[in-house]
Amino acid sequence: MSRVTVIGAGAMGAGIAQVAAQHGWDVHLQDVDDAVVDAAIEGIGKRLDRLVQKERITAEAAEAARSRLHRLDDGLGKSDLVIEAIVEDLDIKTSVLGDLVPRMAPETIIATNTSSLSVGDLGERLGQAHRCCGMHFFNPAPIMKLVEVVRGRGTDEAVVDRVADIAASWGKQVARCADTPGFIVNRVARPYYLEAFRIIEDGIATPEFIDDTMKTIGGFRMGPMELTDFIGHDVNTATTRTVWEQWNQSARLAPSWLQESLVSEGHLGRKSGRGIYDYEADSPTCVIQVAQPAPQLPDALRAAAIEFTRHAVDTDATAEQAVVFARILAALINEARWAEHDGVAAPADIDTAVQYGMNYPRGLLAWRDAIGPPRVSALLEALDAVADDDRFIEPA
Ligand SMILES: NC(=O)c1ccc[n+]([C@@H]2O[C@H](COP(=O)([O-])OP(=O)(O)OC[C@H]3O[C@@H](n4cnc5c(N)ncnc54)[C@H](O)[C@@H]3O)[C@@H](O)[C@H]2O)c1
Repeated sequence: MSRVTVIGAGAMGAGIAQVAAQHGWDVHLQDVDDAVVDAAIEGIGKRLDRLVQKERITAEAAEAARSRLHRLDDGLGKSDLVIEAIVEDLDIKTSVLGDLVPRMAPETIIATNTSSLSVGDLGERLGQAHRCCGMHFFNPAPIMKLVEVVRGRGTDEAVVDRVADIAASWGKQVARCADTPGFIVNRVARPYYLEAFRIIEDGIATPEFIDDTMKTIGGFRMGPMELTDFIGHDVNTATTRTVWEQWNQSARLAPSWLQESLVSEGHLGRKSGRGIYDYEADSPTCVIQVAQPAPQLPDALRAAAIEFTRHAVDTDATAEQAVVFARILAALINEARWAEHDGVAAPADIDTAVQYGMNYPRGLLAWRDAIGPPRVSALLEALDAVADDDRFIEPA
């Protein structure tokens, strides 16, 4: 039986352990103390029970998965794979893995679930760059289909292939990507939130109108404002800031002053009871005022947005809806193209990443092809003509 050791039994480590155990791997978990591991194994057991109750898995499959979960014993050397999912701190990850390396077999693959640290840096610090690979799961790991497989500077291609095969055998969709800030999803998805905030800052539409438009016209599961309330504005804006700073403070990824002011006022979203919407009311009520009067948009921009939208979706959209939907989708498509241009990933991997990591209704680059690249360019040019920065410029 294949064997994986998971270091860190928190939200991600426990989720990854569950996925591996359900797919027939023998799983050994470690955390700062045994009580944390025991609690994680108990939590996984409860989740397996719920899956049985919902008839998603059989009682026998749940029992088999449960029997494969253990505390890490002295058999680390028998692991095919070690996945670390501990705190997001390069020094701590290096120190914890560094202590384990001497007990690992030379062929054991070392995977990190980091969201924002360099896989290459970790591999080099460990002196194990050839067998160190990113295996970036999404939260909750048992439900989210995507794994970004990240090739560090010195990672052997055979190690990348093996990690991709393992993730696929665990029922995941794999997007291979380079070791770059935000990898694919945490970079390419940023305009979904940021352009929506800018539309509000510009006084063009209300949060409710934006959310409703992206769902009813665009087919997105959640609108950008309700999604950022759900994620938490502190978490969302911290990721934005990290990715923006690491990508040379590109205007396309720049933080929103409106979102940052929500954080400084303590309005973090659902978890604090208030963000863009107030959750203390019977049903969520929008509490963000939009500057009035709304600015007049140039006829060329409205026409380009309507033309773009007509080819992007089957649903009939009003001009107001088209202006909002087309602007956000064009910004997303442009970021996907820049990511491809910057060598982050191949187009198919970028599309897999946003579909399975963000649940977008279509891959962004396939969507661009369906709309027609000249229509996308025409809209980006019209947006660029009124923008006060260069965020709508396309890659060459
Ligand atoms: N939470 C997410 O949405 C998410 C998504 C993708 C990736 N990640 C990444 O996954 C990693 C873990 O995140 P999380 O959300 O599960 O955090 P978490 O706080 O839920 O769990 C981290 C666990 O690591 C343990 N730990 C800390 N120091 C340790 C040590 N020295 N030895 C063993 N265990 C130790 C902690 O006790 C804790 O149980 C981070 O690198 C994070 O960036 C998180």
